[in-house]
Amino acid sequence: MTKSDYFTNVVEASDYIRSNISEIPDVCLVLGSGLGPLTDRVETISEIPYEKIPHFPKTTVAGHDGKLLIARLSGRLTFIMKGRFHFYEGYSTQEATFYVRVMAYLGVKTLVMTNAAGGINQNMKPSELMVITDHIGLFCDSPLRGENLDEFGPRFPDQTKVYDKDLIDKLKEAASELSIPLHQGVYAYTRGPQYETPAEIRALTALGADAVGMSTVAEAIASSHSGMKTLAVSCITNYAAGITGQPLSHAEVMENANASSKNSIALMERFFSKI
Ligand code: HPA
Repeated sequence: MTKSDYFTNVVEASDYIRSNISEIPDVCLVLGSGLGPLTDRVETISEIPYEKIPHFPKTTVAGHDGKLLIARLSGRLTFIMKGRFHFYEGYSTQEATFYVRVMAYLGVKTLVMTNAAGGINQNMKPSELMVITDHIGLFCDSPLRGENLDEFGPRFPDQTKVYDKDLIDKLKEAASELSIPLHQGVYAYTRGPQYETPAEIRALTALGADAVGMSTVAEAIASSHSGMKTLAVSCITNYAAGITGQPLSHAEVMENANASSKNSIALMERFFSKI
């Protein structure tokens, strides 16, 4: 697809969303594993299935619905992405970040993402939360590859502050008010869908990673390139491969994501009351 086709698609998707809602939020929350039940606690104003939005990809992962909500979360008008797109589903990183560009084009200023991740740093226990302060995206195809989308940002964007310090501080404040343990650290991206080998986890440890997962990084690159403030929080759902000697399973990941959902929901609600 040429750059101008991609941009035209972004405009068409944005126009469709705009024509279906009366007020446009300036913040978007992407729900990762475990945060699904948050949608029961918001005041939903409208709901758009992804398949109705022109050019939107379809979600293929069990437990990831495909809906865009316009809702009030702690009183704050918010786009809520219920379901997202991953490279391991077969999407390119340009496709996986299409929604990020749509949000930016609609005028969203802040993108908040949540995800599930394996814990490499053993100070973190499964079902605890970690705010991402930086990432290792060396294994991530850049969503910026190809002709630059000058409408959004520069060819060679700075990456020294992908994750917004003020938002990180507000999240920490919210966690401390609620006495929810919140770690901070570096998230390493792997392509998946297979979990890592123990040798890969040792390599990522040496590279400085605290947690590992299969999402978020391409989106954070596209988001920061688009000039949006970006925040991402991981739910540590398991010890990374090789740490306990036990095999990893999607069931364990979902179980711990669900175990953390009370805390993640409370944290997001408090955080949204501050931004
Ligand atoms: N590795 C990669 N992605 C993950 C993991 C993991 O251990 N846990 C949850 N998502």
